[in-house]
Formats: sequence, C-alpha cells, structure tokens
Amino acid sequence: MTARFEGKVAIITGAASGIGKATAKRLSDEGAAVAILDLNEGLAKEVADGLPKALAFSVDVTDEGAVKAAVAQVLAKWARIDILVNNAGGMAGILPIEHMTMEVVRRTTEVNYLSQWICTLAVLPSLQVAGGNIVNISSGSAQTPVYGMGAYGSAKAAVSNFTEACAREFGGKNMRVNAIVPGYIQFDGKKPSFTEEQAEMIAQQAMQRQALKQIGMPSDIAAAVAFLCSEDARHITGIELRVSGG
Ligand SMILES: NC(=O)c1ccc[n+]([C@@H]2O[C@H](COP(=O)([O-])OP(=O)(O)OC[C@H]3O[C@@H](n4cnc5c(N)ncnc54)[C@H](O)[C@@H]3O)[C@@H](O)[C@H]2O)c1
Repeated sequence: MTARFEGKVAIITGAASGIGKATAKRLSDEGAAVAILDLNEGLAKEVADGLPKALAFSVDVTDEGAVKAAVAQVLAKWARIDILVNNAGGMAGILPIEHMTMEVVRRTTEVNYLSQWICTLAVLPSLQVAGGNIVNISSGSAQTPVYGMGAYGSAKAAVSNFTEACAREFGGKNMRVNAIVPGYIQFDGKKPSFTEEQAEMIAQQAMQRQALKQIGMPSDIAAAVAFLCSEDARHITGIELRVSGG
C-alpha cells in the first residue's frame, strides 16, 4: 500500500463499523493518523486499538459541543486536521410517509445532514490552513426515492447541495469538498432499524438493479474516499461520485 496520507490527520465520523471503519483502516494503512467519532464507544475503541495512530471519541455527531471538544483533543494531540469524512448516518426506521412521525424525521435529518454542518464548521479553521479535504457520505436514495425511506432520502439529498456550496466557498483556500453516493453496501452486523426480512429485501433489490452482479463492500467506499482525498483528485471538487455497481 502507498503512503499517500503520511503526516496527515483524518477525522472519520461513524467509524466504529461498516463504511466508516473500512475508511479509517484504509486511510491509516496509507499513513494517516485517524480520529474516530462514534456513538458506539466500545466498538470505536476496538477499531482505534487495531490501528497504529488512532484515537476514539464517544461522541454523538449531532451534539455541537461534544464535536467541538473532540476536535480540540485531536488538535491537542496532532496539531492539524487534513481530512474530514462525514460518514455517520443511518435510518431511524423504514416507514411510509403516511405513517412517519416528526420525531423520526427530525432525528434522521439531524444525524444524516445537520451533523455534516456541525463537523464541517468544527474542523473548518484547521482544514483551511491545511488545504484539506471533506468527503460527505450521501446515499442512492437521495437521487431515487425508495419506499419507506423518505426521511432518510430527503436528508441525504440536502447533502448534495451542502457539498457543492462548500466546494464553491472553500475552493479559494485550496480545500476540496466532494460527496460519495453509495449504492447498496453490505451491512456490518444486524441493523436495529431493519427486520431481517427488510435487510434481505434491500439486498435483493440492489442485486436486481445493479449492472455489476456483485455485492458492494465497505472497502469499495473506503477506496473512493482515499482517491478523492489524494493528489490524484487534485482537480476534483463539488462532485457526487456514485459507487453503486452501476
Ligand atoms: N450500507 C449501505 O448500503 C449504505 C448505502 C448508502 C449510504 N450509506 C451511508 O453510509 C454511511 C455509513 O453506513 P454503514 O452502512 O457503514 O452503517 P453502519 O451502521 O455500519 O455505520 C454507521 C456508524 O455511524 C454511527 N453513528 C450513527 N449515528 C451516529 C451519531 N449520531 N453520532 C455518532 N455516530 C453515529 C454508528 O454507531 C455506526 O458506527 C451512513 O451515512 C449511511 O447512511 C450506507
């Protein structure tokens, strides 16, 4: 593996499992020091303990004060931040719109969208100095609404506009801001928000829809994050990169 991120510091939200965990490992394998911000303290620590330069923070990314405190600790330890991966997210439940509650809509929007504002604003002064990178994780359901995922899809759709707005406003500081739009990516363990039948149905529908007849893995998204944060992508900003098997 190359060392494209030697000397760089990355913050990855939601890196205790799945896509975030694979991304923490990938950036670490390429030389970065990584800070994991996740609700799941035990799993976040397990991931950090398996990496050479890593810190784990038990943080709800919708809590502005907690995010700022974690960022301050990262700066105290490594004195810089080069990469932010806004990955934490998920569904509070699969519910058709007519049965949706505003509680679920608000929490889904906070976790998938407002958290990206909170984390971006918290790291912005450091990233502007470093000329760093932000990668926001969106979802295919932002582009094609999926039955029962209205709250999640619309929160993820807002991520696109936010990404491009940031790319335009921060390009002059040599910062790049991109989004990745994953298709179906294999889950890490059982999801509390889905029944097993719902999880199976989502996987089957993805296989029917995709051009490539293979299951997308968290490492496929991690590889795309690493590319977007690397010098190979130096002229790419404000895009939504679909990583979905076609
Ligand atoms: N797996 C897929 O098919 C898929 C497809 C499209 C988009 N995505 C997006 O990719 C991202 C990662 O998904 P995943 O499949 O790896 O899920 P995952 O459940 O395995 O990982 C999500 C992580 O985020 C953490 N998290 C959730 N809410 C948080 C909060 N408020 N504060 C801090 N941490 C929080 C969880 O503890 C978990 O570790 C999410 O944004 C998801 O919406 C996933």
